[in-house]
Amino acid sequence: MAKQRILSGIQPTGNLHLGNYLGAIRNWVDLQEEYDAFLFMADLHAITVPHDPKRLAEDTYKVAATYLACGIDPEKATIFVQSHVSAHAELAWLFNCITPLNWLERMIQFKEKAVKQGENVSIGLLDYPVLQSADILLYEPDLVPVGEDQKQHLELTRDIAARLNFQFGSEETPVLKVPEPMIRAEGARVMSLTDGSKKMSKSDPSEQSRIDLTDPPEVILKKFKRAKTDPERGLWFDDPARPECHNLLTLYMLLSGQTKAAVAAECREMGWGQFKPLLAETAVAALAPIQARYTELMGDRTYLETVLKTGGEKARTLANQTLDRVKVALGYAMPL
Ligand code: TYM
Repeated sequence: MAKQRILSGIQPTGNLHLGNYLGAIRNWVDLQEEYDAFLFMADLHAITVPHDPKRLAEDTYKVAATYLACGIDPEKATIFVQSHVSAHAELAWLFNCITPLNWLERMIQFKEKAVKQGENVSIGLLDYPVLQSADILLYEPDLVPVGEDQKQHLELTRDIAARLNFQFGSEETPVLKVPEPMIRAEGARVMSLTDGSKKMSKSDPSEQSRIDLTDPPEVILKKFKRAKTDPERGLWFDDPARPECHNLLTLYMLLSGQTKAAVAAECREMGWGQFKPLLAETAVAALAPIQARYTELMGDRTYLETVLKTGGEKARTLANQTLDRVKVALGYAMPL
């Protein structure tokens, strides 16, 4: 039987952080063993807010190197650059014409990012989830493994697929496959180190709010030392009054690979002065092999280019099949 497929991506905007790793990449590494994995750099999404053209290509390679350094294996997974597959932009246009405007106006991420942009809100920012729907539906994945913040975009993707199937397909022969989101219970929402009620984010102006995957040990130690906490003694999970405590314990659990019960027992009596260095050391140890491999990969551009070229070819073949099927369903005269 053919393997089931997963698809996911990350925007090459700024440094990747522990949220990207624990909410997304770490899960892909596990899933690639069992699933046919398509993983990409969402560089078309990266220009929906003002961007620096001098950094875009370099940031794209950095994300590719991070995937590989974290353990994505190009023999098992297809790794590619979104802009190398023109079907993404083309299918997004077709979807634009069947997607009601008010579906996009209520997207939380749009509303949040639009506020930050002030006057300078592009149509691309509003249209972002339609492009994301195209990214996903082109590859007919069974599952889309993402962090919690992408849930609304995946619901929209399912709605667009259902609408297109309803308007242009039949129940027996749907045009598009409707995928399921895959959001793991743990790590799906890593919170900021400066405010336990906000998610850790690449776009937070405060560097102190996140641990970047490339942060050196002394920076990791300093950031955890300064992380916001509370005056309680003893540490425990799941207390809504202690969001920072829950977040830091969860990070320790995921980075040390222990169970929740083991961490709860180990840390029950601890104060912050004892716990913070322990968490920092654990993070440094977990990131050390990733950082070493990342540095090696960033020094071997030829290898990265080969991986992305091979991935791009495979992605284009699959994506074009879906694009053609949609065009036929919409009634286009196809090129001979
Ligand atoms: P992006 O680049 O913001 O984030 C990439 C992945 O990391 C997850 N993530 C988090 N998980 C846990 N805690 C956090 N604090 C945290 N911050 C980010 C995200 O949920 C995501 O899984 N729109 C997407 C990129 C995209 C995409 C796609 C994803 C474009 N097309 C198609 C899946 C399928 C985004 O901006 O992710």
